[in-house]
Amino acid sequence: MGIARYRKAPPHAVRISEREVLEAARRIRAAEGAATFGRRERKKALEVHRFGEQIVFALRGAPRSRPLAILDGACGKSHLSFVARLLVLPALGIRARIVGVDEVPQRIATCRRIAGRLELDDMEFHAARLADVALPGPVDVAWALHACGPATDQFLDRAIAAGARWILCVPCCHRRIERGFEEAGVPACGRLRSRLSDVLLDAARFLRLEAAGYRVDAVEFAGGDVTPRNLMLRAERTVCGRPPADAAERLARLARLFPDLAPPGRTLR
Ligand SMILES: C[S@@+](CC[C@H](N)C(=O)[O-])C[C@H]1O[C@@H](n2cnc3c(N)ncnc32)[C@H](O)[C@@H]1O
Repeated sequence: MGIARYRKAPPHAVRISEREVLEAARRIRAAEGAATFGRRERKKALEVHRFGEQIVFALRGAPRSRPLAILDGACGKSHLSFVARLLVLPALGIRARIVGVDEVPQRIATCRRIAGRLELDDMEFHAARLADVALPGPVDVAWALHACGPATDQFLDRAIAAGARWILCVPCCHRRIERGFEEAGVPACGRLRSRLSDVLLDAARFLRLEAAGYRVDAVEFAGGDVTPRNLMLRAERTVCGRPPADAAERLARLARLFPDLAPPGRTLR
């Protein structure tokens, strides 16, 4: 499937402009109680705009007859979900109940304050680790933007277990793989090993999703100027994806070469 490079807009009739996202981001920032909207906020808004384009594309066939249950994993201050709720989902004609989860209680307090001021009573926020949070029910859509290191894996575990049909996941910092490089003849160069480590971890995540019955794409959801961490795993559970058994076997093969790719507590044969 390869990496599809960032395109300005996915092929869909619904278009969300940068200007609209910037306006929504300013509104959200004001509801947070912050007086400024600086370079950092603008950059985040552009990141959210690009992610929003992927939501439009992924959810083009989602049901409109009932509200969708959406999980935002490692939501931080939930800029993505607020923009989705205010702009992207209404443009698609989708109603939703959004659950944001973050392990930092102050960020969750900020999310609740923003939701309260914007009168968004169909959003709820939980201060918990993704591995431990009690989700209110099954999930239709799960997204995570830059969940730190292992939080991305916890997010994928929870999204798959909760039965999410659509998963949009942009990993952030990666833990380092230590084992397997010597045996595979990789140069003893920290920088190269670090980059390879990132790619291998995302490859294992890709295969884990395929093995769970998802059709997966790895897309550059934004240009490198917007964020250097711009790889998105975009997945939809379907019966017409690659055979899960084949993906599981590939994952096992990869983990035999690089044993740190085996999920914690699980030995892959
Ligand atoms: C880089 S921030 C991204 C926040 C937000 N998604 C965004 O794009 O603005 C990463 C977030 O992950 C949260 N986090 C890290 N590990 C977590 C875990 N195991 N469970 C829940 N949240 C976690 C951090 O508290 C932080 O808010």
